[in-house]
Amino acid sequence: MAASVRLLVRRLVRLSHKSVTSSAATVSCRPGCCLGPSSSRCFSDAAEDRSTHFGFETVPEAEKAKRVYKVFENVAQKYDVMNDAMSLGVHRLWKDMLLHVMHPQPGARLLDVAGGTGDISFRFLDYVSYQQERRKRRAAGSSQTPSWQDISDKYPTDDRPQESRAVVCDINKEMLKMGKQRADSMGITSGLSWVVGDAEELPFDDDQFDIYTIAFGIRNVTHIDQTLQEALRVLKPGGRFMCLEFSKVTNPVLAKLYDAYSFQVIPVLGEVIAGDWKSYQYLVESIRKFPDQVKKKVNFSLICILSMFILWYLSTILKRLSHILLVFAAHAYFVNL
Ligand SMILES: C[S@@+](CC[C@H](N)C(=O)[O-])C[C@H]1O[C@@H](n2cnc3c(N)ncnc32)[C@H](O)[C@@H]1O
Repeated sequence: MAASVRLLVRRLVRLSHKSVTSSAATVSCRPGCCLGPSSSRCFSDAAEDRSTHFGFETVPEAEKAKRVYKVFENVAQKYDVMNDAMSLGVHRLWKDMLLHVMHPQPGARLLDVAGGTGDISFRFLDYVSYQQERRKRRAAGSSQTPSWQDISDKYPTDDRPQESRAVVCDINKEMLKMGKQRADSMGITSGLSWVVGDAEELPFDDDQFDIYTIAFGIRNVTHIDQTLQEALRVLKPGGRFMCLEFSKVTNPVLAKLYDAYSFQVIPVLGEVIAGDWKSYQYLVESIRKFPDQVKKKVNFSLICILSMFILWYLSTILKRLSHILLVFAAHAYFVNL
């Protein structure tokens, strides 16, 4: 089922590429504008006309990537320090949580797109090596009297290569350079590679990776749809796409505080720590321009409705206490409407 959906999507993507290139044949391309024979970038004349957002500014599509490049080139040296300063270290927890949800196993291949200085890939390698150690310990513990479970656990994986690999792919050479320096200082010598590449036109063959991550990167690309198509192309059938991105604060009081912090404090930190107000102003604005978490809101509302129902049911049994809880749940629900 999943495979046939994949095939269908691929066909649609190919069809749309065909129509793009055939129409592009009638468009006059300036020298050097075509990045490949079937590239939708042949529409570069149209891209000059079309506009997009760069933070709160409106810019021609063709200009956005250059300006985003400049932002990360400027902040690369101080990128990691600034992440800690801006989020008070909380970005580490978000990234740890992503790995916890991912729960990769030895042998998995990760592509970390817009991977910057490698935070996700370092965690990935750490996680799989811990899993590998656990497996070894378990195997050693049960080697004398293996259970049927141990035998069946081992059987299908024995002939698979166990080395996991992470590929950090980023459009920005400066960010990758900083990442490589970090890897060297951490003593990471194997299982990791660094590739310069555009999320919208990945330099990898089809069906290569088990997991694709893009952490705080997707809001920086010009064409999100093209980025998603590329993710689908390079993922193996059944592979997983995982995106970490900021969402909208729905609580009005918190939203005010968050706005004040974002617009009054973060650019100042950017100026003091990285000597760059404008780049951090862009980062804050780009978060605001990213689409809201419509789905999550619906899910949260559903959870609230469900919890209200359960609490109402409990209230028929446990009267007073559950009435109080019911009021809390109702409040949470209406605040989020
Ligand atoms: C906010 S950083 C995130 C870095 C890293 N994922 C992290 O979580 O720390 C965004 C990264 O996206 C990269 N980027 C922006 N546009 C890109 C594109 N079209 N293709 C690949 N990387 C891109 C930037 O160079 C930058 O390194």
